[in-house]
Amino acid sequence: MTILVTGGAGFIGGNYVLDWFAQTDEPLVNVDKLTYAGNLETVASLAGHPGYTFVQADIGDRAIISRLLHDRKPRAVVNFAAESHVDRSIDGPSEFIQTNVVGTFNLLESVRGYWTNLSDTEKSAFRFLHVSTDEVYGSLGPQDRPFAETNPYEPNSPYSASKAASDHLVRAWHHTYGLPVLTTNCSNNYGPYHFPEKLVPLVILNAINGKPLPIYGDGQQIRDWLYVKDHCSAIRTVLAGGKLGETYNVGGWNEKPNLDVVKTICGILDEMKPRADGRSYADQITFVRDRPGHDRRYAIDARKIERELGWKPAETFESGIRKTVAWYLENTQWTANVQSGAYQQWVKKNYAGREQ
Ligand code: NAD
Ligand code: TYD
Repeated sequence: MTILVTGGAGFIGGNYVLDWFAQTDEPLVNVDKLTYAGNLETVASLAGHPGYTFVQADIGDRAIISRLLHDRKPRAVVNFAAESHVDRSIDGPSEFIQTNVVGTFNLLESVRGYWTNLSDTEKSAFRFLHVSTDEVYGSLGPQDRPFAETNPYEPNSPYSASKAASDHLVRAWHHTYGLPVLTTNCSNNYGPYHFPEKLVPLVILNAINGKPLPIYGDGQQIRDWLYVKDHCSAIRTVLAGGKLGETYNVGGWNEKPNLDVVKTICGILDEMKPRADGRSYADQITFVRDRPGHDRRYAIDARKIERELGWKPAETFESGIRKTVAWYLENTQWTANVQSGAYQQWVKKNYAGREQ
């Protein structure tokens, strides 16, 4: 028994791989291209683990992926690999189409080739789990019901459109070729090993480095927040018991406006690492120009996964965000190392001209 994970050097994939070996000895092959978002330091503790293999490869490279599938014979593929940052997708959508759409297509074709040649028993036991996002459903009004699995897809950013396209491909490979697929659509994750281009780690690190905490627009955009370890447990649950061809929405029942998230982080930092001048980190909050096409509200109806598979998040936002802030305060080496020159260039470009 072996599973193959793509994107396992990224934020969620990395947490998934670490959690996997905390729970089982079943071998795992981690395939990651190591883009700017891929960081082997996240999974460094697994070096030398007999069940763990890392392969640097693109999910779109059919020759390598097909050979790997043939050699390692996984019982499942869990696809985390993607370009994942909305702001980067606005700045340059091409990589998003390449990896999220074309890459997923090529991965599906490699997996289909492998799966077709399995024995009947192996075929029916095999799973392809595609990790997707709630952003494919578009934006909700204040009174709208949270996203259910039956909501139509209405993606608004190049990122969400590329993820929506990949979800459609996965669905079609099930209906057309019988590939045993599962899809999860999850809300905003936060937690350890999160690249500091995203709101939560950016705010923690900017705060302690005395930098502005940039709030896009009025800061009243609402996201549902889920602690990353809860997302990982949801994926394990769907992999083990999800119904073939089905999609499962995963969320934390934690709708929060961005400004509240940032103020909460500031309050925890005030307590854990008070500013030298005795003032609050909230003084560093700065309102900047909004993201174009910024979705106003996401909310997840996670009742299906609870009802059918018995999954519920273990953390509340309050407990998860405290753990997260503490993790960033303790793991300064990891954060120092991800903030490379290339990342600093991106930060300059993204925030230049946003000042209000
Ligand atoms: P991330 O950007 O931190 O990590 C992505 C990983 O994929 C990186 O290690 C990168 O090197 C790798 N990768 C990128 N292109 C690749 C390619 N062509 N071939 C192989 N590897 C490649 O992303 P994340 O936040 O960990 O998200 C993982 C998945 O979960 C994505 O599919 C994303 O759409 C989805 N998701 C993310 C969130 C969130 O809040 N972060 C929420 C819901 C769903
Ligand atoms: P982000 O972490 O980029 O995730 P996503 O766009 O996938 O939801 O952003 C979360 C929210 O925070 C989103 O509404 C945009 C907002 N945001 C800011 O206000 N300031 C920032 O500097 C960043 C990066 C995001």
